[in-house]
Amino acid sequence: MRKKITVVGAGQVGTTVAQLIAFRNLADVVLIDIVEGVPQGKALDLQQSGCLQVFDSLITGTNDYKDTADSDIVVITAGVPRKPGQDRADLLKTNANIVKNVTEEVMKHSKNPILIVVSNPLDAMVYLAKEVSGLPRERVMGMAGVLDSARFRTFVALELNCSMVDVDAMVLGGHGDSMVPMPRYTTVSGISITNLMDRDQIERLVERTRKGGAEIVGLLKNGSAFLAPGASVAKMVEAIVQDKKRILPCTAYLNGEYNWKGIFFGVPVELGFNGINKIIELDLTPEEKEALDTSAKDVKTTIEEVDAFLGKSV
Ligand code: APR
Repeated sequence: MRKKITVVGAGQVGTTVAQLIAFRNLADVVLIDIVEGVPQGKALDLQQSGCLQVFDSLITGTNDYKDTADSDIVVITAGVPRKPGQDRADLLKTNANIVKNVTEEVMKHSKNPILIVVSNPLDAMVYLAKEVSGLPRERVMGMAGVLDSARFRTFVALELNCSMVDVDAMVLGGHGDSMVPMPRYTTVSGISITNLMDRDQIERLVERTRKGGAEIVGLLKNGSAFLAPGASVAKMVEAIVQDKKRILPCTAYLNGEYNWKGIFFGVPVELGFNGINKIIELDLTPEEKEALDTSAKDVKTTIEEVDAFLGKSV
């Protein structure tokens, strides 16, 4: 039987995710949104592309969580996107209400789904989804590192004028301005970019990566990035559905790894059928460790805001 994947939020990111899941024949898709008609219309439109794109996935559009029953994976993209000049933390309150409500509804109808959270501010929203769902940490993750490292990979390839596919990158930490692109672990066909570029070049690309989301928000003016975010989610979904055991940077709940506990943080994980099989701890230089700790402190602040939102004592 085909897997069932619910995508909550039939907006820009959600629609892209639904499309890529279908195009790759990964699963049936339920697209759900609070706005009436939109998920139904987009689902029908996507379904009608099946004979052209060659897929058999069934696509359902709905406003009723009953239709999401027994989902294997639920991708949460519901929320309000960032406006120009607004940082992710400003979004916290609005999107916390939305993500809390969505997670409660999802859990009424699916017993043991894997949750992939996309809504921003990411580290806070994925923590909220874990707290509200009560799911084990292996089954709740955020999408950020795959996107941030795709941005870093792209900038490296453009800078070196080399093939995009030869570049691999690692970006750790929170999904905010203090995220930590890792040049030592960023390679072109196995060669670290620290051997291929000077410090200034690397620093420029690191900075552009950190501000990668804001650069696109500034250009679009109305809305935020969705094509690369959608492709990033699809890569995670594929790793899970096909039990690929891929090593990808994902936002995972730390329980002592990297010396942090009780926060969600971007780290390399092995992704497979049961979600996060393991977290991989990298050897870090004192400089890298300091950058990660700074990012973790930023994340901790937003997580404390979520605890306050949930009425938990901090
Ligand atoms: N339940 C379900 N859907 C909701 C709810 C809710 N309570 N509230 C809002 N939505 C829907 C909106 O109706 C909209 O269709 O979420 C969708 C969000 O889509 P867009 O506005 O197009 O935003 P998008 O660009 O897809 O970004 C979604 O991902 O990258 C992050 O920062 C981004 O948090 C944002 C999220």
